[in-house]
Amino acid sequence: MGRTVTIFDTTLRDGEQSPGCSMNLQEKLEVAKRLELLGVDVMEAGFPASSPGDLEAVKTIAGIIKNSTVAGLCRCLEKDIDAAREALGNAVSPRVHVFLATSPIHMEYKLKMTADQVLAQAIASVKYAKKFCSDVEFSAEDAFRSDPDFVCKVFGAVIEAGATTVNFPDTVGYALPDEFGARIKYIKEHTPGMGKAKLSVHCHNDLGLAVANSIAAVVNGAEQAECTVNGIGERAGNASLEEIVMALRVRKDMLDVDTKIDTTQIYTASRLVSQVTGVKVQPNKAIVGDNAFAHEAGIHQHGVLANRATYEIMTPESIGIPKNRMVLGKHSGKHAFEDRLKDLGLSVDSKTLETVFGDFKNLADKKKVVSDRDIEALVMGASASV
Ligand code: KIV
Ligand code: ZN
Repeated sequence: MGRTVTIFDTTLRDGEQSPGCSMNLQEKLEVAKRLELLGVDVMEAGFPASSPGDLEAVKTIAGIIKNSTVAGLCRCLEKDIDAAREALGNAVSPRVHVFLATSPIHMEYKLKMTADQVLAQAIASVKYAKKFCSDVEFSAEDAFRSDPDFVCKVFGAVIEAGATTVNFPDTVGYALPDEFGARIKYIKEHTPGMGKAKLSVHCHNDLGLAVANSIAAVVNGAEQAECTVNGIGERAGNASLEEIVMALRVRKDMLDVDTKIDTTQIYTASRLVSQVTGVKVQPNKAIVGDNAFAHEAGIHQHGVLANRATYEIMTPESIGIPKNRMVLGKHSGKHAFEDRLKDLGLSVDSKTLETVFGDFKNLADKKKVVSDRDIEALVMGASASV
């Protein structure tokens, strides 16, 4: 029996922090419901102290999500933790997530604090959060560029203070997979009391290695992976949820590690996040890109027609792309059109549906086949003009 890794989704917090990705309350709610269907263990709904709107969004999500833990991010400040307390009050399973940087560059230039001050503030914040929430996560921001023994010391102290998860972020995406894996092994083996908390990783994608680093960490004992749908996030983004989950699922033979994610919900979740943020998924993106299951070369097409496994290591259906998808053209009716909107994770009110369906018919008169991209563009156009 293999291990199960906790999936901590931060699309609504770190994902939302990326340029142009901010979402309104309604959009955040829709994404939260999708994440619950996907089966994420934890969803970070926002950063309650960052704005009244974010506090409201976390509060609303905390009130409706029943099957995932809902987390709120806080700096190691009492006023931030108080805001999280207010926002998470109605959650079935709340988590307070406090963070403080531990790298020399962040401590000196950003925090203007000594290592001892950082240690004391981390402990005090975890103790403060613990007064009202049993589930507390501590993140050592920029952990990968920190002195590993200092991180072990801080992690040991916050575990002693009650932290139930300690998170090791590669905040600037600087690590290489082998060294990241080795670092996680070191942290796990040298942190006092590590058996009382889960070790988590949070990788950014500045060198395009966020998923590889997360997998290396899992192989070396990390028990939680933090990620976002479509890999959206600060700068080059965060580790992509769908890539981590499918890498573990497809290579379970090798790794013997899995997640509780319902992978058949991946495609719809990806489309919804793309629609609400307006950030398109690149066509060659692994798992969810338009070309991920497309075969252009004749020799490939021939192989796939004989047996899909010749050129496909997973099935489109396993991530929720229906097998026998109907082609949409000028003869298609409104039911087929509405079904496709649902498959694409696009939700529109009845008035917008009428408009978009009319636009679709006009386009279908000009084009033989209307693609998913065309439909997404029609919905975005109609939503923008409402
Ligand atoms: O990248 C980072 O270090 C973070 C922390 C707040 C977890 O997002
Ligand atoms: Zn981050």
